[in-house]
Parts: sequence; structure tokens; C-alpha cells
Amino acid sequence: MGTASGFDARAFRSALGSFTTGVTIVTTRDRDGAPVGITANSFNSVSLDPPMVLWSLARSARSLASFANATHWAVHILSAQQEALSNRFAKSGSDKFAGLAVEAGHGGAPLLAGCAARLQCRSAFQYEGGDHLILVGEVLDFDSCELPPLVFQSGRYAFAARRAGQLSAAADASPAIWREDHLGYLLGRAWFQFYGRIRARLDAHGLSDADYFALTTLVLQDGASLEGLNEVFAYSGVAASRERLQDLAVRGLLETRGAHDAPRFHMTEAGRRLTLELIAAADAIEADALQACGSLEAEALRHSLRHLIRSTDPGLPDLWTPDSQRAAP
Ligand SMILES: Cc1cc2nc3c(=O)[nH]c(=O)nc-3n(C[C@H](O)[C@H](O)[C@H](O)COP(=O)(O)O)c2cc1C
Repeated sequence: MGTASGFDARAFRSALGSFTTGVTIVTTRDRDGAPVGITANSFNSVSLDPPMVLWSLARSARSLASFANATHWAVHILSAQQEALSNRFAKSGSDKFAGLAVEAGHGGAPLLAGCAARLQCRSAFQYEGGDHLILVGEVLDFDSCELPPLVFQSGRYAFAARRAGQLSAAADASPAIWREDHLGYLLGRAWFQFYGRIRARLDAHGLSDADYFALTTLVLQDGASLEGLNEVFAYSGVAASRERLQDLAVRGLLETRGAHDAPRFHMTEAGRRLTLELIAAADAIEADALQACGSLEAEALRHSLRHLIRSTDPGLPDLWTPDSQRAAP
């Protein structure tokens, strides 16, 4: 499909999409006082003094008349956890504000919560912009917080990751003290608080950390030897012993097969049932812990941890690769 200028419209849109942006929701009130809002990534800063910003609104938008006539509007720079809100305000005409708590900003413009920043504007200028109307606003008031922003890239939501250089520059600026944002501290404390809740479940079943690690490994690698098991979770500093595994066998959770001096450990039905129950409990604890972050932030966290594991791996065996398929060192 071509445009009046002869461009292929899809290719033009795709080229523009390679410009990575944040995502905003712009709100106002219509003539009758009803709240109006639209998701927009055409937002940009214009001037610091006087403080001014702009965005562009499709002439086909249902909200065109409301924004064209508005004396005030508010730009909400969305945080990473507001993807669902962005989708809600990108649907034309629906009751976008249903169930949302809003405050009244300048000129009555509805203010949404949970954003990375909010800019309350007086409508200053409007310009022709082809099939869009360009709106320039003078910023009367703003607030912001440290929430990570929602990002839009080539038609999809994304998350922003700071480059290592910037982080270390910030670190260099601070004196050599035990910082609150030290990665070792953050990882250790997060693990301690997260695993503490799982351990409470283990205590209720009279299981140690090593029992839990052995059982959850055997679910994936049934028939492993003691050495094979310990190799898999050696990184944790926890080791299973033959005595503990024999205890689990006495409890009917495992059974031993093979040579007496080199037994292989197999799950019994009761062992599998208990382990799957513990894994389901761990999943629920995880879901609960991640509830405070949105799905994007949770995905960003997993991504960063996987990256960190890969980049610091001294060559540990992978729990998800069975013994038999591991490459020889
Ligand atoms: C990430 C994203 C960015 C968008 N940016 C704009 C924009 O800058 N301007 C615009 O007019 N529409 C934009 N849209 C589309 C509008 O949000 C969408 O057409 C909305 O349904 C219009 O609402 P209305 O018809 O109720 O006014 C965007 C949509 C998404 C998902």
C-alpha cells in the first residue's frame, strides 16, 4: 500500500516503529465533564523554559473533539507495570475509566495513579500534522517517582535496561561502603526472604534443604546417584548424604536400586506426590511475591537473573539437562 508521497505505508510505519519510546496516557474532560483518555507514544519534550511538551492525536480518534477543545490535559508517563492500563486506553471509545480511582488535576483533568511521572498541562498551541493534530501544552505541575518506565518498540511493549557503564559510573561516584543496592546483598536478601517461606513448608513435613533439593532434582532426573544429585546443586552449598536419602527411603518417599555400594535413587509414588505438592506451594509463593510487580517487571527480573547466571557460570551442570545428555567437560 502506498501513501500520497509514494511510500509503502507499512514499511514507513515499521521504520518509525524502530524509534523506541515510552508510553503515555493523556487525559482530559469533555464538554459534559466526562473523563476522556487515550494511549499515546507520540509524546515528546519541547522546552524547558517555559516548560512545554507535545503529542499528536489521530484525526480519526473519537477523543479528537474533546482534546481539541480542552483547556487542560494531563500526560501520564506509564510505569513498566501499567501495560494493561495502556491497552485499556488504546481501545477506542470504551468506558476506559470504569473502576479506576482518579484525582482531579488542573482544569479537572483526571489523574491516574501508579505512573512513572505525570505532567499537568494547559493547552497552549495546536498545529496541523497531516492525519494527526499536534498538541503543545505548557506544564503547570508535575510529579514523578523511581518506577521503571513502560517502553514501546516496533509495535511491542519492551522493558528498559540500563547499560552497565552507567551503573558503574554511579557506583564510582559513591564512597566504598556497603551499599544498599549492592547486588550480592539484594540477591542474598531476596533469596533469604523468598526461600524462608518455602522452608516453613519443608519444616512442616520434617524435610531439610538437602531433602528438598534432592526430591526436586529426582523429579527431573529419576534414578540419579548420590554424586549426580550433589553435582546438580553443589552451587547451593547444600549436600545430600547417603544417610538422609536412606531416611527418605524409610519414609517411603524414595527407593534405592542397583549395586549396594553405588545405589541409584528413584521416586516412589508418595515421594512424587509430596514433591509436586511442594513445587505447587513454591509456585504460589512465587506468584504472591511477584504480585507487587507487573508481568513486565517479573519478566525483566527473570531475564536479568538468567543473564547473570550465564555470565558468571563456572560450568555447573544444568538441572534441566539429564546426566546422560551432559556434554563431557
Ligand atoms: C503504544 C501505543 C501508542 C499509541 N500512540 C498514539 C498516539 O500517539 N496518537 C494517537 O492518536 N493514537 C495513538 N495510539 C492509538 C490510540 O491509543 C487508539 O487509537 C485509541 O483507541 C484512541 O482512542 P479514542 O478513539 O477513544 O480517542 C497508540 C496506541 C498504542 C497501543
